[in-house]
Amino acid sequence: MNSFTDLYGHAPEGEWAAPGRVNLIGEHTDYNGGFVLPIALPQTVRAQARRRPDGLLRLWSAQGKGPVRELSVAELAPGAVPGWVAYPAAVVWALREAGYEVGGADLRLDSDVPSGAGLSSSAALECAVAAAYNDLYGLGLSAPDLALIAQRAENAFVGVPCGIMDQMASMCCREGSALYLDSRDLTGRQVPIDLTGAGLALLVIDTRVKHDLADGAYAALRAGCERAAALLGLPALRSLAPSDLPASLPRLPDELRPLVRHVVTENARVETAVAHLDTGDLTALGPVLTAGHASLRDDYRVSCPETDLAVEAAVTAGAHGARMTGGGFGGSVIALVDAPRAPHVATAVTTAFRHAAFTPPHTLTATPAAGARRLS
Ligand code: GLA
Repeated sequence: MNSFTDLYGHAPEGEWAAPGRVNLIGEHTDYNGGFVLPIALPQTVRAQARRRPDGLLRLWSAQGKGPVRELSVAELAPGAVPGWVAYPAAVVWALREAGYEVGGADLRLDSDVPSGAGLSSSAALECAVAAAYNDLYGLGLSAPDLALIAQRAENAFVGVPCGIMDQMASMCCREGSALYLDSRDLTGRQVPIDLTGAGLALLVIDTRVKHDLADGAYAALRAGCERAAALLGLPALRSLAPSDLPASLPRLPDELRPLVRHVVTENARVETAVAHLDTGDLTALGPVLTAGHASLRDDYRVSCPETDLAVEAAVTAGAHGARMTGGGFGGSVIALVDAPRAPHVATAVTTAFRHAAFTPPHTLTATPAAGARRLS
């Protein structure tokens, strides 16, 4: 019915996949030049694609459910394209802005990354299209270069001032590892994380509270961090260590102090988490996660009643630790649990939600999966 050939009358030249992500720790640190530690999810966006010689970009999405959409590549402009179509269009626009003479394509998109759940379905969409264009048009761009193109697409075309974490996770993660990334210069390393070997599971609890990074709160937080760095005479808050806080915080207006405290302590938590992974002490990650959640709730103030309740219920039911993941204001919570207790913890969270009259959460189990790749 809606195969590529049905839609476009010819076969695709190939198919590419790019995953969603959960961030283990390091939230709201990327745009402060700090550390993050995401894993890629097994859930991906798949893009089947074929070049077109006439400069048209034709798009169809299994989730969008509408007819094929058609845009002229030469006429793409920020702000002019609404809805999901903006994300693939943005990538093509960003490639051309960067000087790559790419043309049109037929694209068929399909996804099993839950959208609006803080699991980076948008970045996965951007990265799948970026990977397809890179191969089809022979651009030879590296995975980090493609992540930067995707971020530019989202910042300048879609209008979301996101950092680099989601796109780097989707492009660069490897199966069985977390990506320990220094957002200041995009250096980093893969850190093996064998959850199964340690008898553990990572639950992802989608609270079903839709977050929307474009709504201004994210931009306001980012601006607050940049203002604090400027007041302290620093290029970015990354330059501060926890031992600098007693001298630095009093130099800032009251409203900026908790933001700075979160960013600085969160960077330290990423380093602690990596040290635990390096020594194979995976359960020691738990309290680091829970401390990260408290900081996001009390200092950064991006949690909500649903994420707070999911964390509390998971920990009460025996999780080693739990925290919201992603930008916040809803989205998903991760919980590190002993594998045999995973169903019990999931049920405990669902029960707590029922008692609070919240929408029932969706739960899945995350295993560290591969980044963007060509499938055929
Ligand atoms: C969103 C953004 C990321 C990052 C997180 C918070 O996912 O896209 O760049 O800032 O929020 O850590």
